[in-house]
Amino acid sequence: MVVCVCPIAADVGVGVLKSGGNAVDAAIAVAFAEAVTWPEAGNIGGGGFMLVANGTEATFFDYREAAPALATKTMFADGKIDFRSHQSAGVPGTVRGMELAHKRFGTKPWKDLLAPAVKLAAGFPVDTPLAKRINDVLKDPKTTNAEFRRIFGREWEAGDTLKQPELAKTLAGIAEHGADWFYTGPPAEQLEAEMKAEGGLIRKSDLAKYAAKERKPLLGTYRGYEIVAAPPPSSGGTAILESLNILEQFNVSKHPRHSPETVHLLAEVQRRAFRDRAEFLGDPDFTTIPEHLTSKEYAKKLAMTIDMGRATKSESLAGTIPITEMGGNTTHFSIVDKNGLCVSNTYTLEMNFGSRIVVRGAGFILNNEMTDFNPIPGTTTRAGKIGTDANLVAPGKRMLSSMTPTIVRKGGKPYLVTGSPGGRTIINTVLCVLVNTLDYDMTPTAAVDAPRQHHQWFPDRISIEKSSTSADLVVKLKAMGHTVTESRQGDAHTIRIDPMTGLFQGAADKRLNGKASGY
Ligand code: GLY
Repeated sequence: MVVCVCPIAADVGVGVLKSGGNAVDAAIAVAFAEAVTWPEAGNIGGGGFMLVANGTEATFFDYREAAPALATKTMFADGKIDFRSHQSAGVPGTVRGMELAHKRFGTKPWKDLLAPAVKLAAGFPVDTPLAKRINDVLKDPKTTNAEFRRIFGREWEAGDTLKQPELAKTLAGIAEHGADWFYTGPPAEQLEAEMKAEGGLIRKSDLAKYAAKERKPLLGTYRGYEIVAAPPPSSGGTAILESLNILEQFNVSKHPRHSPETVHLLAEVQRRAFRDRAEFLGDPDFTTIPEHLTSKEYAKKLAMTIDMGRATKSESLAGTIPITEMGGNTTHFSIVDKNGLCVSNTYTLEMNFGSRIVVRGAGFILNNEMTDFNPIPGTTTRAGKIGTDANLVAPGKRMLSSMTPTIVRKGGKPYLVTGSPGGRTIINTVLCVLVNTLDYDMTPTAAVDAPRQHHQWFPDRISIEKSSTSADLVVKLKAMGHTVTESRQGDAHTIRIDPMTGLFQGAADKRLNGKASGY
């Protein structure tokens, strides 16, 4: 089964599974297909994380973008670099990431896994959501790149054919010659020429040096389930384990899921996990990350600081972080194959359509992931800007991510595969899906569709998704001292494996028209 935001890509993945490929083969084919069919976030010009597990083993592929050698610690400090500029792009990681996953797990020829993407890039029919997303981005005056407008710039309707011939050529080259060709061959020349022409920082030497990394996933437990989580440079796995460990100190399901008591408890947990995220998390190859963050003892101490009737002021948790006054887009797919091998993959261009810059001649959209670094050293604001040392820019360093691909196991068997887009809200979207499933026994569809909530320490407010009961909830949360806003969170395409029957239950999130495709 494959569950993802793009129906065409979901079917590509199932085609690979049906022809005998495993979940990683399917993931590689889906990732390359979505680089064509979901250009808002699917990519070869960005990066991401792939978590792979079966009942007993697990590994993690980190193909996060890295800062180029010309990047500096203070490059974003004066606010002059536009978030949609060449300078905001990190060195792309996706092609190396797929290559590494293929070397470790692939059973199908690399070329065969890219073939559907090459074909789709020659032309495929856009559906209503994609037509709307492209039309919306073109209406934005900040979408200025001429090559982006040349390729995407027209009024789209469902059924129109989107052709990306330059991207088709690049994908065909990767299929034929492998990832080295992308990082040292013509695409590297094209990317460097693009950067030099427009004041960007990436050079061929950055591309040649870039490596995807295999890391050990974080492992934790929650009420008898085993949680397989994303390690740094994701902040997601650490924050999820810290949150679940605190929640384990409470009888979470004592109150209904969307009662003020439960929403308050989750918000207090989220506030604390995000406070620690701000102080401690960054690229583990540059920053030492304390182990206590995911320990049960530490969680017990934090649990004791929660007042069940009253909101904690975020400022009171700041500790040594000085707080001053100042004023996305990603996509996730989940796959399980017939042998129970699971892939939870989240990858990204950062904001929607990334930098909105297409590399001339190579046809792929560039990320603007450099904006995930802390912009102003030492400046952490009440509005939510973070300025702590752990995630400052440095050459070759990976920017901290919130991407949280997660796999849950029970009794030595895979149980749940999930993840989401949505910047910092990703972590709390995944937390909500886990709590809904593990504490409230919701079906995967109910767990995914239920209204979610987000608290990220600063700004000091709970954001909740609007529902029929949210007006009353807001009144009660305000009475407890919370500031409350309403906004939508990302889509969490999830698979649950029924422990009784072994059946796969796919939940494509109702927030977007994804597809659960299986056989
Ligand atoms: N670009 C979103 C993230 O990595 O958190």
